[in-house]
Order: sequence, then structure tokens, then C-alpha cells
Amino acid sequence: MHPLSMSAKIIDGRHIAEQIKTRIRAKVQQLAETGLNPGLAVILVGEDPASISYVTAKQKACQEVGIRSFDHRLPASTTQKQLMALIAELNHNHQVHGILVQLPLPSHIDTHAVIEAIDPNKDVDGFHPINVGRLVIGQGRLLPCTPRAVVELLISSQVELEGAHVVIVGRSNIVGRPLANMLLQKAKTGNATVTVCHSRTKDISVHTRQADILVAAMGSPNTITADMVRPGAVVIDVGVNRIPDPGRKSGYRLVGDVDFEAVKEVASMITPVPGGVGPMTIAMLLANTVLAATFQQ
Ligand code: GUN
Repeated sequence: MHPLSMSAKIIDGRHIAEQIKTRIRAKVQQLAETGLNPGLAVILVGEDPASISYVTAKQKACQEVGIRSFDHRLPASTTQKQLMALIAELNHNHQVHGILVQLPLPSHIDTHAVIEAIDPNKDVDGFHPINVGRLVIGQGRLLPCTPRAVVELLISSQVELEGAHVVIVGRSNIVGRPLANMLLQKAKTGNATVTVCHSRTKDISVHTRQADILVAAMGSPNTITADMVRPGAVVIDVGVNRIPDPGRKSGYRLVGDVDFEAVKEVASMITPVPGGVGPMTIAMLLANTVLAATFQQ
């Protein structure tokens, strides 16, 4: 570390997520008194270890706040028809207010068709084309959880969005694209100037060095290095990458898309991995489930 440089403030996603969960728990209790018990159905197809751990964490979080969770773990051999039949059943189940199909799905399943089969009012991931379209025109209701998590972390950390230049690296339908749209909204939680970089961008670092707020969401470990970050920038790391670590019982450890140790000496604020965006994503899923339940009532 340079003798005059200051280490970044670490944004504690776990702590902020716990505060939000406390509020959600109170809201769920209040709804229960009116006879409304929010319910979330989670569907996992196959046995991808990362997906299993995400789905388990989502269900545990439901329990913590009093949301009913309906667990559907299906074998990798599940057919498209079987999956569609389950979604149709959940669409009609009045105890289920949110439906989440964990992605990625096995390659023999048409992911777009599955997402479109979900009732848009129960689409707590905000992935249905109706909800994507609503977001783009500024009429979003159910917004995707990870981009919501990024925005909430920035707001909780008192980072000014209005007029800020946000550079997003990654253009996925789950993170990069919806986040760009949210930050562009004419709203207090938007009004940013947004640049989206991706795998075909000529020189990513030219753009990242311009960022007041840099969001790494491309899914490649430790790729954003200190020289790519403007001193004083706020850095949000959405990446969750498992890299082999024989020293651990699990055999792996999690790292983000950002070279945390080096970048924290340049940035003014930074999210860690784990313990940054991840816990907030789950809190936003709970918030979306409660929201979906209230407008279905
Ligand atoms: N896989 C990775 N992120 C997500 C997410 O936010 N929702 C779902 N359903 N699957 C994912």
C-alpha cells in the first residue's frame, strides 16, 4: 500500500441485508394478521453445486422472515413438458405468490420458454419479457434481484447516483442489462450516466477508468485490476467465482470479478466477495415475494 493512500470503506452487504430482512419480517407478520401468508416456490433442475447452494440459501432466508417456501428439486433429466406442467400448476396455486426457476437450466431445456411460462405477477426474478419491458419504459414493478441489490447497496452507502457515471462490465440479462436500465430511470434511484462494457469492447480499461461507480458483472475471477480503477471510485463486485483451494474442506473458495486486495487500495468504497452483493440479492428476492403477494391480493 502506498504510504499516503487510504484503504477503501468495505460495504458490508451482510449487515445491510440483515437490516432489510428485519423490516421484511415485520411486514410478513403484519400481512399474516390480515390473512395473507406470502409464499415462494423455488425450482431447481439438476445438481449443479453452486445452484444447490444458492437455492438452499434462498429457502433458508424465506424461513428466517416467515415466508412460506415450496421446494421443487427435480432431476437433470426433467423434460421441458414436465417443467412447464409444474409452472402451470404453481401459476394457479393461490398459496404461491412468487415462482423462481434457478438458472442455468440443463441445455435440453428452452430457458426463454420456461421464463415466459411464469405468470408475470409471480415473476419475482423480473425475467419475464413483460417485466423486462415494463422496466425499460420506466414502469417496472418486479425488478431483477441482483441489480436491485446493487442499487440498494449504493443507496444505503449514501453514494450519489444522480449524474454519476456508472460503468457496468457485463451485459447479461440477469445483471448488466437490467441494471443499466434501472440506473437510467428518471428517478431518485437513477439519473445516472451509464456505460455498458462487454466481451467485444475494444479497451475496457479506457471506460472503467472513467467510472465514478464501477460494477463488475462479467463472471471472470479477479479481472478488474487496480490500474483499471479511478482513484476514489466506488466498486461493486457482482462476480461469484469458485476457484480451487486445496487448503479448504470444500476444495474451493469464492472470489469476485475484482482483484479485491489491490483495488481496495484505490477505491473509496468496495464490496467484498463473499459478503457484498450476494446477501443483498437474497434480501431483494424476499422483498419481491412480499411485493408480489400484496399486489396479488
Ligand atoms: N442464477 C444466477 N443468478 C440468478 C438469479 O438471480 N435468479 C435465478 N433464477 N437464477 C440465477
